[in-house]
Amino acid sequence: MSSKVPPIILNNGVEMPQLGFGVWQVPDDEAEQAVGTALEAGYRSIDTAAIYGNEEGTGRAIAASGLPREDIFVTTKLWNSDQGYDSTLRAFDASLEKLGLDHLDLYLIHWPLPSRGTYIDTYKALEKLHADGRVRAIGVSNFLPEHLRRLVSETSVVPAVNQIELHPHLQQHASRELHAEQGIATEAWSPLGQGKGLLEVPAIVAIAQKHDRTPAQVVLRWHVQLGNVVIPKSVTPSRIKENIEVFDFSLDDEDLAAISALNEDRRLGPDPATFDMS
Ligand SMILES: NC(=O)c1ccc[n+]([C@@H]2O[C@H](COP(=O)([O-])OP(=O)(O)OC[C@H]3O[C@@H](n4cnc5c(N)ncnc54)[C@H](OP(=O)(O)O)[C@@H]3O)[C@@H](O)[C@H]2O)c1
Repeated sequence: MSSKVPPIILNNGVEMPQLGFGVWQVPDDEAEQAVGTALEAGYRSIDTAAIYGNEEGTGRAIAASGLPREDIFVTTKLWNSDQGYDSTLRAFDASLEKLGLDHLDLYLIHWPLPSRGTYIDTYKALEKLHADGRVRAIGVSNFLPEHLRRLVSETSVVPAVNQIELHPHLQQHASRELHAEQGIATEAWSPLGQGKGLLEVPAIVAIAQKHDRTPAQVVLRWHVQLGNVVIPKSVTPSRIKENIEVFDFSLDDEDLAAISALNEDRRLGPDPATFDMS
C-alpha cells in the first residue's frame, strides 16, 4: 500500500513523512506486531530509541513487511549514558545492528543533559555519521532554545529536527518560532497528550462531533495544520488505523483558534533543563 501521508522536506532536502508511528513503552516482543500493523495501515515512518528496548522488534517488523528499505523512514535516538564522541559512534553501531539495518534515516540526541556539557561532542559524532553516509539526517530531541542556539553556533550541520513534547496543553511557541527561523522541523512527542485527559476536553470533543471524527484525529489534524511532524503511539489496531486517517479533512480557523486557546504550558514529561537520567 502506498503511503497516505505527505512528506515534509527537511533542511537537507531529505523527505520525512509528516506522520509516523511512535513505539515508546511497547515491549520488544509486542513491537513486531504493533509496527507490522502500522506498516500495513500505511505508516512509513517509525520512531524508536535505544532506551525503549524495542529496536530489535521494530527491525523484525520492518524486515517482515517486505517493503523496500527506501520506503520506510526509521528514526532512533542516542541514550544519555552514551553521550560523548566515541561512545556515540559505538551506540549508533549497536542500534543499527539491533534494527538489522545498514543505515538510518534520522538519528537524534535523546536529551540535552545541559549540566553534563557533552552534547556538542556528541553532536560532532552525529555529524561524522552523517558525513560518512550512515544516516540521512541528524537532529536532537528535548533541546530548549538555549541549547539549540549553542549547538548551532558551535557545530556545522543545523539539526534537521528537534523532537519535543508538544500537544494542545503545551504548545511550545518559543521553540516553534526558533525552529522556523533556523529551518529545523518541529516533531511533536506525546502528540495526543498520552491519550489521557486531553481527548476528553469539551472543546476537542465538540470539534470532533462537528467533523464526524474522533478527538484523537482532531488533535493530530491540528498538529498537521501547524506544520508539525507527529508520531502517535498505539498498540490498539483500530487506533493505529484511526490515527493515520487525518489527511482527508481540515479544521477551520474557528477550530484552530479553539484548540490554540487550550495552551497551559503544562508538561507531562520531564523538564529538559534539569532531566539527567542515565
Ligand atoms: N523524545 C522523547 O523524549 C520522547 C518522549 C516521549 C515520547 N516520544 C515519542 O513519541 C511517541 C508518542 O508519544 P507517547 O507514546 O508518549 O504518547 P501519545 O502518542 O500522545 O499517546 C499514546 C497513548 O494514547 C493512546 N491512544 C493512541 N491513539 C488513541 C486514540 N486514537 N484514541 C484514544 N487513545 C489513543 C495509546 O493507547 P494504546 O496504546 O493502549 O492504544 C497510548 O496510551 C512515543 O511513542 C515515542 O516514539 C519521545
